[in-house]
Amino acid sequence: MQDVSPDEKQPLRIVIVGHVDHGKSTLIGRLFHDTGSLPEGKLEQLQAQCQRRGVPFEWAFLMDALQAERDQNITIDTAQIWFNTTRRPYVIIDAPGHREFLKNMITGAASADAALLLIAADEGVQAQSKRHGYMLSMLGIERVAVLVNKMDLVDYRQDAFDQIVADYTEFLGEIGLTPERFVPISAREGDAIASAPQDTMPWYDGPSVLETLDAFERPAQDADGPLRLPIQDIYRFDARRILAGRVESGTLREGDELVFWPGERRARVKTIESWSAPVVGEASAGASIGVTLDEQIFVERGQLATRAEDAPALTDRFAANIFWMGKAPLLAEGTPLKLKLTTQEVACTVERVESTLDIATLTLTPDAPQVERDDVARVWLRTERPVAIDTHARSPRTGRFVLVTGYDVAGGGIITRALETTAQAHATRAHVTAHERARRQRHT
Ligand code: GTP
Ligand code: MG
Repeated sequence: MQDVSPDEKQPLRIVIVGHVDHGKSTLIGRLFHDTGSLPEGKLEQLQAQCQRRGVPFEWAFLMDALQAERDQNITIDTAQIWFNTTRRPYVIIDAPGHREFLKNMITGAASADAALLLIAADEGVQAQSKRHGYMLSMLGIERVAVLVNKMDLVDYRQDAFDQIVADYTEFLGEIGLTPERFVPISAREGDAIASAPQDTMPWYDGPSVLETLDAFERPAQDADGPLRLPIQDIYRFDARRILAGRVESGTLREGDELVFWPGERRARVKTIESWSAPVVGEASAGASIGVTLDEQIFVERGQLATRAEDAPALTDRFAANIFWMGKAPLLAEGTPLKLKLTTQEVACTVERVESTLDIATLTLTPDAPQVERDDVARVWLRTERPVAIDTHARSPRTGRFVLVTGYDVAGGGIITRALETTAQAHATRAHVTAHERARRQRHT
């Protein structure tokens, strides 16, 4: 392997999406090769194998071979595939299909800092290219470069490239996404991957794919956002109780007063601990920590800790943009759902479908009775009991959720508006019903 010492240590996580056969695997193979990240002799070995069998070499075979080795060799930590440039390391997030990708992104199993979206020059913008664009915009991935691949199949013509740029820019404009740039490439031939494609596309004087990646600025850290600590578990060690969770946004310090939602009980942070390092004193977004409090108040999994001045909305009704992937259509007031939002889980239903959007055609249907598979919809959800939420604009990590039917993640979405039913209103309602129940029991 080439010895590259990147300037930055933190990897930039990129996802590569695109219509089937538009060249994702080929591009990944090329990126590995052109950054010197392939194991010594691997390419030659595979090329020789293809020759012996009389099949043309495919870059996708290379990735399959590496994948197979990774699957067998659990001693090597290569769960994720990565390569280096002189600027920094990159991790490529596996996105086998758009549904898996969306699921992983929304559940937090994977998170991408930036995306490369591939469109094959000979086929142009496809329905899937539009869905992917929409998903990226919905997930708030702003660093997007569009790679127009297979330029060799259109004789490296500038007008073919320009046409796709025009078509796709128009579509992206309608959904509010501005790509950082379009790059004409041939993944198979290696044009514009690592360096400028002088011989084949003299009309293009922009950056190559690697230069485009290196030009991406890292998304602003969430450490400055409102403090959000969803409680994952409570551990008991001797007399101590430790609340475990991951700081999703903001920075937590010892001595901070926390409010736990729902319930609104308060206590101060006595210590912050982490599993790997000694007591830390402060922890920012991304850190998995343990917290002890100065008072033994009742806290349970699923509660959200925040600062009093940065309260979330506590509500059982909110508007969301959802993406539906369920096999059966999603019915308003029908389909029973489970909402999972960070560590909160609660039963819910769709109260109203305000509109559905067929992404491929951008056709909007107001007041639809149901949401079809792969459609995007604007809906009002009602949960069985109040949940602590944020709008996606305020806090992306606590402003998105997944919808589960049975055991399957069947959809996901981002919260656009929370209807403030205050904590107090609910406390009163709960009290009244409890009171009512007690009264009726006495009567029977
Ligand atoms: P799926 O994983 O099935 O969605 O496909 P993919 O997007 O990973 O595409 P893949 O890389 O497997 O490429 C599909 C086919 O297109 C293969 O036969 C590649 O050799 C071919 N291909 C990829 N890039 C280029 C290119 O730049 N030029 C030409 N001519 N063919 C290409
Ligand atoms: Mg592939």
